[in-house]
Amino acid sequence: MPAQRLLVVGGTGLVGNALVRAWARRGAQVTAATYHRRATTDFRQLDMRDPAAVDRLIEEVRPRLVALPAANPFVDYCELHPEETRQVNVAGSLNVLRAANANGARVIFFSSDYVFDGKKGVYTEDDPVNPINEYGRQKAEVEAAMLKGAGNLVVRTSGAYGWQWEPKNFVLQIISKLSRGEAIAVAEGLRYNPTYTENLADIVCELAELGASGLYHAVGADRVRRLDFARQAAEAFGLDAALIKAVPEGQFKTPAPRPRESSLETDKVRAKLKTQPWGTLQGLAHMAASEPQWKLYAEKTPARKS
Ligand SMILES: NC(=O)c1ccc[n+]([C@@H]2O[C@H](COP(=O)([O-])OP(=O)(O)OC[C@H]3O[C@@H](n4cnc5c(N)ncnc54)[C@H](OP(=O)(O)O)[C@@H]3O)[C@@H](O)[C@H]2O)c1
Repeated sequence: MPAQRLLVVGGTGLVGNALVRAWARRGAQVTAATYHRRATTDFRQLDMRDPAAVDRLIEEVRPRLVALPAANPFVDYCELHPEETRQVNVAGSLNVLRAANANGARVIFFSSDYVFDGKKGVYTEDDPVNPINEYGRQKAEVEAAMLKGAGNLVVRTSGAYGWQWEPKNFVLQIISKLSRGEAIAVAEGLRYNPTYTENLADIVCELAELGASGLYHAVGADRVRRLDFARQAAEAFGLDAALIKAVPEGQFKTPAPRPRESSLETDKVRAKLKTQPWGTLQGLAHMAASEPQWKLYAEKTPARKS
């Protein structure tokens, strides 16, 4: 990584924390990383809804590159609270974009497969967006603003899983339920590209190292049914897959409509990078093997709700 000043806005999140650790593994110093509510050793507090606070941090840190995984990524919450979540996902992101670009820094923004309506099933970077839920509309709006600024990079990802402090992602939920002997209901039909955060972070670091800009899809290599992925996860962690109960798709009622299938093609990233998207078995095996390292890291970076 060329020496440059790096800022990660949202370093306490699933994706943001993987990015902080990946940059460290690659020998690049993250100049500053932020948290919002989860006070974390060595990280700086930032509420990106506050434009003056964003300006102050960027003027102080003087980053050359700002990674922006911070968001409210809860799709149903966004549907039920569009105004509140727009303040974070749209206004907050635009605050970071404006301050970064005005100070000569490029931005890496994290977007989602939910910018698509799901009718086509598998999408390339050239396909037009047509979101069917509020979260997807918020992401599409920020993508467009990011791509107006030369040098900014938009990375669309999907179904992220990996280690994080709270068991929020799908794999950690499966582990937490199954290891207590509890059943978990999983929608039968949904297909997507589960994305292992360590692999995603390496992809994003390499894109940054190459000075990539524009739009890239960065997701796992396999298009799988959610149900099959859940069973793979149970197996990888030595848990009882019989506790996973298949529920017909139509019986899963959620406030936000989901695209039926919004898998993402990764040809563009594959052609550009040495780091290639991992399949689900590779990601899950790595996650299982790296549990001790994660525990050591989590102990060294105590977190408390502020
Ligand atoms: N997870 C997925 O499957 C997935 C799929 C597609 C796209 N994405 C996108 O990828 C990005 C990362 O997702 P994630 O799963 O890593 O999210 P996450 O784990 O929920 O992390 C969100 C991060 O944003 C911070 N944050 C929240 N509100 C903030 C505010 N007002 N000001 C500043 N920071 C704030 C949080 O800080 P605290 O924790 O300290 O409060 C946390 O660091 C998001 O843009 C998401 O939309 C995720």
